[in-house]
Amino acid sequence: MGGENPYQDDRGNRDRSITADGAGASVDVTRRDGPVAVSPGGPFLEGRAMTGGYGKSGPDILHGCTIAVDRGEIAVIVGPNGAGKSTAMKALFGMLDLREGKVTLDGLDITALTPQARVRAGMGFVPQTHNIFPTMTVEENLEMGAFIRTDDYRGTMEQVYDLFPILKDKRRQNAGELSGGQRQQVAVGRALMTQPKVLMLDEPTAGVSPIVMDELFDRIIEVARTGLPVLMVEQNARQALEIADKGYVLVQGANAHTGTGKGLLADAEVRKSFLGG
Ligand SMILES: Nc1ncnc2c1ncn2[C@@H]1O[C@H](COP(=O)(O)OP(=O)(O)OP(=O)(O)O)[C@@H](O)[C@H]1O
Ligand SMILES: [Mg+2]
Repeated sequence: MGGENPYQDDRGNRDRSITADGAGASVDVTRRDGPVAVSPGGPFLEGRAMTGGYGKSGPDILHGCTIAVDRGEIAVIVGPNGAGKSTAMKALFGMLDLREGKVTLDGLDITALTPQARVRAGMGFVPQTHNIFPTMTVEENLEMGAFIRTDDYRGTMEQVYDLFPILKDKRRQNAGELSGGQRQQVAVGRALMTQPKVLMLDEPTAGVSPIVMDELFDRIIEVARTGLPVLMVEQNARQALEIADKGYVLVQGANAHTGTGKGLLADAEVRKSFLGG
C-alpha cells in the first residue's frame, strides 16, 4: 500500500483515479476569519447532534440527529417516508440553518459554510429531485459539474464515461430523454466531475427496476473502492444495508438505530419495523 494514500483500505480496487489527488487528505477550508478549528481523528464527514428545520420559524425536523461517513466507507441512511433523511442530507450540505449541532469535514468545522463553499471543500451532493438539467445534453450536464474547476477536466469526463459507458453513447442526447437509471448515472457523474472528497447520494435508485438498481449499486461500490467515502439515502433498505459499512435508521428526525450494515440487517427490531420482517 502506498504511503501517499493513508485512507486506502483493503477493499481491493486501488484505482483512485476518479477521486481528487488529495482525496481524503486535508481539506483547505479557510474563511476571512481564518481556518476553523481542527479536531483530527473523527469521521471524514460528520453532522453531529443536528437540530433544525426549514426557514427561520419552521418547526424542527431534525432532533439531535447524528450522521457520519468515514474514509473508505459506504454509509447508508434508511427510514420511513418523511423521516427527515433528505433533510439530514441537506443539513450536511448547508441547505438549512441548524439551531444546534455542527458539521465537520476532515476535522474542520464547516457549519457556517454555504453549499457552494462546501462543494469547493470537497463535497459532491446528488439531491433526491431535480438532480440533472433535462434540456441540456449529457455532456453539457457533466460540464456543468466541472464548473468549479479551472484545470482540464476532460480526463475526469473520460473516467465518468468509463464508469457509465452508456453515457458516452448518449453524450449528445438531452439528459431528459434518458431512462430513469441513466438519468441517475448523469447525476452521479455530474457530482464526480468536481473530483469530490466525499459523495452524497439521496435515493440514487429511486424509480428504477431491481436490475438497474443492482447495476447502480455495483457502480457505487466501484466508486467507493477508489477511496471515495459515499453517504447515501436509500428506500431499498435491505439491499442498501447489504452493501453498507455503516447504517442509520432515522425515525422522526432522530437516530433510531445505528450499526454496521450487517448488524442492522440482523437486528430483530430493525427487521420487524423497517425491513418487512
Ligand atoms: N422544503 C421544505 N420546507 C418545509 N418542510 C419540508 C421541506 N422539505 C421537507 N419538509 C418536511 O420535512 C419532513 C422530512 O422530510 P424529508 O424530505 O427530509 O423526509 P425523507 O425521509 O427524505 O422522506 P422520503 O423518504 O419521502 O424522501 C417532512 O415532514 C416534510 O414535510
Ligand atoms: Mg427524501
